[in-house]
Order: sequence, then structure tokens, then C-alpha cells
Amino acid sequence: MDLKLNNGVNIPCIGFGTWKMNDYEIAVESVKSAILCGYRHIDTASIYGNEDAVGEAIKQSHIARDKLFITTKLWNTACSYEEAIEAFNKSLEKLKLDYVDLYLIHWPAPKDCRSFYQKRNIEIYRAMEKLYKDGKIKAIGVSNFLKHHLEELSSQIEIPIMVNQIEFHPYYYDEETIAYCQKHNIVLEAYSPLGRGQVLNDPIIKRIANKYNKTPAQICIRYAIDNEIIPLPKSITIERIKSNHEVFDFQLTAKDIQEIKNLSHDHGKIGSHPDMADF
Ligand code: A2P
Repeated sequence: MDLKLNNGVNIPCIGFGTWKMNDYEIAVESVKSAILCGYRHIDTASIYGNEDAVGEAIKQSHIARDKLFITTKLWNTACSYEEAIEAFNKSLEKLKLDYVDLYLIHWPAPKDCRSFYQKRNIEIYRAMEKLYKDGKIKAIGVSNFLKHHLEELSSQIEIPIMVNQIEFHPYYYDEETIAYCQKHNIVLEAYSPLGRGQVLNDPIIKRIANKYNKTPAQICIRYAIDNEIIPLPKSITIERIKSNHEVFDFQLTAKDIQEIKNLSHDHGKIGSHPDMADF
């Protein structure tokens, strides 16, 4: 199942996350297993240190390139147009690809450019617009952008932002960012859709999982999909990689979705705050 970006490009509604998969062999095997299990959307980033492994897994999988959707991200050290182009070319080389499907600005206000982050974002976005026009990236997006970052950037760019990748799971629902993206036709992606595993022992998630005869992880993944947010679950365990993709034979009711969302009132964000991150 695909969603459509605001430029008409299709994006598979579940992706395979690869954060912390920095052992080369494990990353190659995990990504190959994911592709074998049916994932067609792989999410990496230059800071994950596994673009070469992801590229190798793609090569070994023998799946036609146009059947895969590959995302990577521009790291915080790129603060100018030239640095962004250079970083992109390095990523492309490691991935052994001619283009990527989606390229994201990883963080909106890195520590070292915080005093001029708005100027930085405009400049690196212009580099991404150039890569887009040259056919090197099929879609442009951002990650960890809050409403104010999106507003600041949107008024200064030519090609609209297509994707925002944010933290999203049963314990965290960023109402303001989600509402803004949905209103402005920016597709949302969920990183840490399992709350880094912390949500999986929640009694309410377990009860709902029992009701559907599904695992708690499958409930979290379906919760994102039923909110039209693309989950990017990660795992290096073959059975989990497989079962995390088996979420297309059921759907949560509106009541279940609300009950899961209510869990966010008593919990919160697990990852760093975009305006205060120490990197
Ligand atoms: P592992 O990679 O050892 O399988 P998130 O995607 O929210 O960041 O969560 C990733 C964490 O959740 C990883 O530690 C991963 O462990 C674990 N995980 C992934 N899928 C499952 C699953 N189906 N059941 C239990 N834990 C899972």
C-alpha cells in the first residue's frame, strides 16, 4: 500500500528503519531480510554509518531499483549549499545508487549552527532543490521539524516540503506538528514507532494486541498507519522484521485509536528536542 506525496510520487506506507544498525554484516543481513519479507521502503541516514551496508543489501537483493523507495538524510555538519551537495554525493556513492527517492534534512537546528539555523536551512534546502531538478532525488523532505521550523522554511522555498519524519508512537503525539503537516499536505513518517521498545509492555497495548490476535509491535505499527503516518520500525531479528510487516490484514477501530492516543497524555517524547539537541 502506498501514499502519494504532493509531487505525485508514491511512497510505501511502511518503511524499514536502520538507526543503530552500524555493524556492517548485521545491517546487510537485516536489510536483505526486510526486502525478502516484503519491505520496499528503506530508511537510512549518513549519521547511521550504514549507507554502504544498505547499498550492498539492495545490490544483493536483485530487486529492480524502481520497485524500491530509499531515503537518506543530510547530517548536521552540512551548513552551506556546497557542503550539502558534497554530503549528498558521498551518500549516493556509499549507497551505490544513481538517485535516492527521498532526501531529508536530519535536524532543523543543529548545535553548531543554532545561531543561524534559519539561513542554514534555506541554503541547504536550495541545494536539495537543485538535486531534485537534476533528478538525483525524487522527493525532498525534512525530519524533526516543528511547526515553527516548517513555517520559517516554507515561506522561503520554491519546491514545497513533501515529508516530515518525526518521533511518533503510542506514548508521544505531537498534536501541533501533526496538524500542521496534515493541513499543508506534508506526509508524516514515524521514527521510533515502537517507542524504542518501551511501549510494548504497556497493559493497554497488550490488551488490544490480544483482541486482534496480534503482537504489541504490530498494534503500534498499525496505529501509525491508521493515523496515515508511515511507520519505520527497525529490528535486527528476522522473526520481528517479518511480523512487523504483517499488518495489512487488520485495522484498528476509531475507539482503539483514541484509547492508544490517550496513553500519550501520561508519557512523552523519548528522543531529543529539535531546538535543544546537544548535537
Ligand atoms: P531488535 O532490533 O533487537 O529486534 P523502534 O523502531 O521504536 O526504535 O524500536 C526498535 C527496538 O524495538 C529495537 O530494540 C528492536 O529490537 C525492538 N523491536 C523491534 N521489533 C520488535 C518486536 N516485534 N517485538 C519486540 N521488540 C521489537
